[in-house]
Amino acid sequence: MTLHPRLRAIATTAILALSLLTPMPKLLAQSPAPGSVTAKPFGKTTDGKPIQLYTLTNQNGMQVAIATYGGTVINLITPDRAGHMGDVALGFGTIQPYFTQTAYFGALIGRYANRIAKGRFTLDGKTYKLAINNAPNTLHGGLKGFDKQLWTAEVLSQNPPTVRFSRLSPDGEEHFPGNLTISVTYTLTNRDELRLQYVAQTDKPTVLNLTSHTYFNLSGAGNGTILNHQIRIHASRFTPVDANLIPTGKIQDVAGTPMDLRKWTTIGTNLQAVGGNPVGYDHNYVLDRCPVVRPCLAAEVYDPSSGRFMKVYTDQPGIQFYTGNFLDGTLKGKRGKIYHEHDAFCLETQHFPDAPNHPAFPSTILRPGETFRSTTIYKFSTK
Ligand code: GLA
Repeated sequence: MTLHPRLRAIATTAILALSLLTPMPKLLAQSPAPGSVTAKPFGKTTDGKPIQLYTLTNQNGMQVAIATYGGTVINLITPDRAGHMGDVALGFGTIQPYFTQTAYFGALIGRYANRIAKGRFTLDGKTYKLAINNAPNTLHGGLKGFDKQLWTAEVLSQNPPTVRFSRLSPDGEEHFPGNLTISVTYTLTNRDELRLQYVAQTDKPTVLNLTSHTYFNLSGAGNGTILNHQIRIHASRFTPVDANLIPTGKIQDVAGTPMDLRKWTTIGTNLQAVGGNPVGYDHNYVLDRCPVVRPCLAAEVYDPSSGRFMKVYTDQPGIQFYTGNFLDGTLKGKRGKIYHEHDAFCLETQHFPDAPNHPAFPSTILRPGETFRSTTIYKFSTK
């Protein structure tokens, strides 16, 4: 068919105008607008409940994607010093591996983050027995901790992108007492901070320790080890542990030990001297100024190769510095990358491990009528 040249020009202009006006759904879905929250389906739980993935994008294009399963950080995309965006959080591209993984990639951890010795504690004269999921102890809340639960998400703001994840942890869940209502609000500020605000209340006395278990590699997830990253932790003391990673009860000075990270230290430097089986940092640091100054600067990490710089602020008294010692090359993550020992670090802001069995440690008891509130901030920049 031949068209009159004028008609053809009009048709071409119309097609061009239409193609400009019609958004390309695929492209939009991949790169949400700055200052926005989008949600999309992200599979189903083993009992068929839909899981959503919320993507928070700030005005600078920094992005975090969080699943309603475990309130889990799935992707965390930040620029390097050249402005190239990269994913700095280890994890999986689909939800299935999260059902069985024991690394706790990106997840919210509760009701009790870290270990409780022999899965027992006594509160107001009553002894509670928990599941032993990390023999001989309970780790990160038991068999089905907060990381393996479905959370309800609510968008609080598009800019700065803010989503509140909440749930009711019923009385007796994983044998912990009290109905606990909990919310964790994630905000991605326009100052490139990922802020987590925790709020919890109970109807019976309980113990509570909450954290976020994101594994960071500032060179990009799956791009080798973090042993060349530099770290500084603002702590003059730590809680030494026994062979089962349970605190001995002592609070020891870091001075003169390989645990001293008060001055900038390349992570690999003292790794062998720190020891452990497998070797590496897996220790709770007693923060110097937290929770006196709230939230205070707890730790800083710099990756000389990418130029990415991360600061951690918290109001919690401790931080677990963990160098991914248990990653053993058996997990295949996003983009087909295999995760090996020391391919990531975690900075888990927290109360001290096993505090329910150490009356001298800051208390983790939450009673009816009280509200637990806590803030942790991961701030990103480049140098
Ligand atoms: C925490 C613990 C580690 C390890 C990981 C999960 O960070 O401190 O010992 O159990 O969780 O693998």
